[in-house]
Amino acid sequence: MRLSMVLSVAVLVLCPLGSQSQKPVVPKVTQEPVRKQAVPRVAHTPPMGWNSWNFFAGRVTDKDIRNAADQLVASGMRDAGYVYVNIDDTWEGERDANGVLHSNSKFPDMKALADYVHSKGLKLGIYSSPGPKTCAGYEASLDHEVQDAQLYASWGIDYLKYDLCSFIPAVMMQQAPNDKAAQMRMMVAAYDKMDKALTATGRPIVYSLCQYGWDAVWEWGPEVGANLWRTTGDIQANWQSIYSILNEQAGLARYAGPGYWNDPDMLEVGNGNLSLAENQTHFSMWAMLAAPLLAGNDLPNMKPEIRAILTNRDVIAIDQDRLGREATRAYSEGEVDVWTRKLSGGAMAIAVLNAGSDRYATHPFHLSLTKLGLHRPQKAKDLWTGKEIVLTDNMPLEIASHDVLLVRIPASK
Ligand code: GLA
Repeated sequence: MRLSMVLSVAVLVLCPLGSQSQKPVVPKVTQEPVRKQAVPRVAHTPPMGWNSWNFFAGRVTDKDIRNAADQLVASGMRDAGYVYVNIDDTWEGERDANGVLHSNSKFPDMKALADYVHSKGLKLGIYSSPGPKTCAGYEASLDHEVQDAQLYASWGIDYLKYDLCSFIPAVMMQQAPNDKAAQMRMMVAAYDKMDKALTATGRPIVYSLCQYGWDAVWEWGPEVGANLWRTTGDIQANWQSIYSILNEQAGLARYAGPGYWNDPDMLEVGNGNLSLAENQTHFSMWAMLAAPLLAGNDLPNMKPEIRAILTNRDVIAIDQDRLGREATRAYSEGEVDVWTRKLSGGAMAIAVLNAGSDRYATHPFHLSLTKLGLHRPQKAKDLWTGKEIVLTDNMPLEIASHDVLLVRIPASK
């Protein structure tokens, strides 16, 4: 079943709770990270790799995965940190009489594929759903969680994306049609169940929740063993989608940290009709967000400028900074947004983004250092030109439409 269909049905049930409280509760706002769980064995920095969905969708085959692995190596992406090769939906076949799931004819031998990917110094990821079917209507894990987790481990799988999809109509809406809270408890329990099944295999497997941010997943994701959780609906290869997902991340920074990451969805860099500026901005902002960097483009046909974006080591270093502090939006003025991120060693990253579609460099934006807590001129590195620059208070910046200035200040004062 297509996700859009599932969601449109689900929306009928999962309506807002309505105005039930008389007195507004004012939450205590803090930027301090939330730390409830111990740092897990995997994903100490946001996972990096490639996923088949954004480019291949349902067409992906074993050959495409092998090609992607080859190209990750040949392009230098593996050496820049992209190690997970993730098969998304449509690999699944049927269960046999013992309930063991088999891959379909597009993936003749999953163990051999895993061995091939591992032989390249890469890791292999896979996809399923807690419901009876995946989003694309293939066999999924409901009532077979332990069996499936063991199967993944026997193949040598290193990463699981677990996508809610048919669990919504088949279980949540079926079993508790008028009780939203009960539906959410079922969803959390389903994610917890697969976590326990994965843990029982003894194999370190990155656990990626895909349920579109429902029920403030960032609050309970770590408790069900998640290393990352999608915070929004599906990304598309256009500016509107990327920019609206970016804005939906404001306020989530404190939930991210080593081992636990907000996931604003996989990269669309190199897909669709994104301009060079849009590709750079998308990549810059995902790095600011400490987002998983899962490329989703056609690697064998990648243009040099797209490869240059995806392998920009300075930008990747922002994403992978060991402090794991996600950026926050410091301020917006008109169509310009300024985001900052604390980095290890007292360093700081600043992104200034022009979201305007028709505001070009003719009337510059003035960057307030004071608003960023900086009180003197700062030496910085422009991470896209590689040049050293000096930031001064209220300095004019000329940033083209949908472009970004991304800088790193070695140790901010
Ligand atoms: C959902 C997910 C996507 C992708 C598809 C596969 O839409 O959000 O990322 O995995 O399912 O069917």
